[in-house]
Amino acid sequence: MKIDTALIKKYNKPGPRYTSYPPANYFTEEFTRNDYIQMVRDSNNEWPSNISLYIHIPFCPRICHFCGCNTNPMPGKTEIAGYIHNVKKEIDLVAEHLDTTRQVTQIHWGGGTPNSLNLDYVEDIMHLIYSKFTLSHNPEIAMECSPAYLELDHIVRLANMGFNRMSLGIQDFNTDLLKRLNRIPAKYPIKDIYRTAKKAGFEGVNFDFVYGLPSQTLDDHIESIKKAIEIHPERIVTFSYAHVPWFKEHQKKLESYDIPQADTKLKMLESSFQLLTENGYVAIGMDHYAKPGDELSLALQNKTLHRNFQGYCTKEKTGQVYAFGATGISQLAGGYSQNTRKLGDYNQNLENNQLPVFRGYKLSRDEKIRRKVLNEIMCNHYLDFGAIARQFDITRGELKKVIEYNPGYLDEFATDGLLDYDEQIVKVTSRGFFLIRNIAMAFDPLMKSANENRYSKTI
Ligand SMILES: C[S@@+](CC[C@H](N)C(=O)[O-])C[C@H]1O[C@@H](n2cnc3c(N)ncnc32)[C@H](O)[C@@H]1O
Ligand code: SF4
Repeated sequence: MKIDTALIKKYNKPGPRYTSYPPANYFTEEFTRNDYIQMVRDSNNEWPSNISLYIHIPFCPRICHFCGCNTNPMPGKTEIAGYIHNVKKEIDLVAEHLDTTRQVTQIHWGGGTPNSLNLDYVEDIMHLIYSKFTLSHNPEIAMECSPAYLELDHIVRLANMGFNRMSLGIQDFNTDLLKRLNRIPAKYPIKDIYRTAKKAGFEGVNFDFVYGLPSQTLDDHIESIKKAIEIHPERIVTFSYAHVPWFKEHQKKLESYDIPQADTKLKMLESSFQLLTENGYVAIGMDHYAKPGDELSLALQNKTLHRNFQGYCTKEKTGQVYAFGATGISQLAGGYSQNTRKLGDYNQNLENNQLPVFRGYKLSRDEKIRRKVLNEIMCNHYLDFGAIARQFDITRGELKKVIEYNPGYLDEFATDGLLDYDEQIVKVTSRGFFLIRNIAMAFDPLMKSANENRYSKTI
């Protein structure tokens, strides 16, 4: 598979990433904590029956100036202890409405930088989870880690708590570049961290990179990917730098540097794609690569790939996601619920024994159908109208009506060789791989009236 840069430029326009459907900008503050409680109760009888737990730790000892994540400078010990106490309270409050005999197949810690916490706090929350929930036979227990704060003995301690996956935020191996971006480089060589993790029993380690960072060169990115390939982790992720200074004020500090634009970013994408695929990695989505035997590669082959706010996963492992912590987004069969972003409000709500819900979205039946269609296109690059219609107990014609299907929208994609389609199926070709967001938009009725400029561009 080769990247056709002319085609990517042609279609390089803003569009949603479809990590949720509808996208988070459609969530509404009319959605209340009582709506969330009802949604949690209903979720006990809905599919998937598995439970995924997400814990958000919105703290970092130092804020990287490129950061687009939901985080804050690390507060004092008392504030951290208070936050952890409230996350535990939130878990208790939600568990009251959950059928805790349902199996937990995933636990994901994200942030911020959860590994910069005193690990006693992590252990405390894990104990609570283990005591309240029923864990599946081989749950995926993952943490997003910054290697700046990762001591080698922390890795062993995390493994002893049950963690078996970690993603390491490397971003780039050029330490001068990281320092310009106010980021603390890794404390130990990444290959030592990787070896320690594997020896401690971690099944999978992801390396996260960002391309298009202010002052980053094409060579920086290529060298970083080459170094990663030498270490040969299970998965490699290359995120396109999102520059959103109107939303993340600290990014303004980087505007005196050259910020790579579409042409350079496309070269970066093309180079890493080529290096990784030539060295045996399978491209999973626009930015994820995995070894051929990895469960994500197998799921892509079997058309059973799924995606949520935490990234790609297999249909077997995926559960409805119950999120805890400030800004956490729960993704249930019936819709979405997001916690408040403000730490003060988060703590205040929980001190009053109230769930800290700030907005959400309740899906109608038609929206659930559209979500399913978009997930299939985005993850599995394949749509069988008949198979999806049967899942919702409707006809193929009714399904097409719900998604306001117009084959005319697909003609240009078909002429450009991005997909093949007939009455029954749509199959995205390898040329369409990097334009999957554009293709998905053709199946989304919201895109007919949406202001696309609210979204980032494909590249
Ligand atoms: C929550 S952070 C990961 C954990 C840890 N805090 C770290 O930085 O290593 C998740 C990942 O998002 C990516 N990221 C952060 N800011 C970004 C931005 N502005 N654009 C694209 N990716 C970004 C980075 O690859 C980062 O590792
Ligand atoms: S350590 Fe990670 S989450 Fe924290 S500021 Fe840097 S990129 Fe953002």
